[in-house]
Amino acid sequence: MKVTVVKDYNELSKYACNEIEKEIFHNHCSVLGLATGGTPLGTYREMAKGFQQRKLDYSRVTTINLDEYVGLEKENAGTYHTYMEKNLFQYVNVSSDMKFIPNGTAEDLQAECERYEKLIEKKGPPDLQILGIGTNGHIGFNEPGTSFLSQTHIVELTDSTRKANARFFTSEEQVPQKAITMGIKTILKSRKIILLASGIKKRNAVRTLLEGKPDEQFPASILSEHPNVMLVVDRAAFED
Ligand code: F6R
Repeated sequence: MKVTVVKDYNELSKYACNEIEKEIFHNHCSVLGLATGGTPLGTYREMAKGFQQRKLDYSRVTTINLDEYVGLEKENAGTYHTYMEKNLFQYVNVSSDMKFIPNGTAEDLQAECERYEKLIEKKGPPDLQILGIGTNGHIGFNEPGTSFLSQTHIVELTDSTRKANARFFTSEEQVPQKAITMGIKTILKSRKIILLASGIKKRNAVRTLLEGKPDEQFPASILSEHPNVMLVVDRAAFED
């Protein structure tokens, strides 16, 4: 795993944006795997700026998101559909039929997981996958204990994850109990992975990631087995 330490969140966001823009510049038909949460917000802001200032064209880019909550209508303020529209898609010209996010309101959730896995096989795998990391080591919504061989599946969110994500809802009770997530095996199919970690709260997770051997109790640890992973971390998340 290549490790890049940057000064702060701003630098991290610019760095990640630059990597994504390089990818698209070299391959106009890139497939991007995208994450949500707090960490990539700055990256998406930079991408929006880049679209205006550098006239980067996203019209042939495909985006595939990692996960979505179960049971919320797409238009709900807390969904990742809403998050992506609000923070990225309204600012760049990704074509509406080339952005993919799991459907958390599908009648048959198991069938939806299978459909999404097939879709990733057909459209992907991502040339570049952006990941954040949970304080418990989760990637996507793959919580500790998830099999490294997992494909897209339904997860029961842990209390710590629901607590951490409550800031995107009016209260913790509003955070859904379940989500659909790409599995760990699915994520590992990506050609290149950039894992972003920022802030003091991620320090322990970063330390475990860098010290540990693959262990299903710390899902991100499997990334050490992938041939092309870059950890981009700011000083707050890296230094003692
Ligand atoms: C989001 C996702 C999660 C987050 C992780 C970190 O799509 O898959 O794994 O990346 O929970 O979240 P933040 O960035 O809010 O600390």
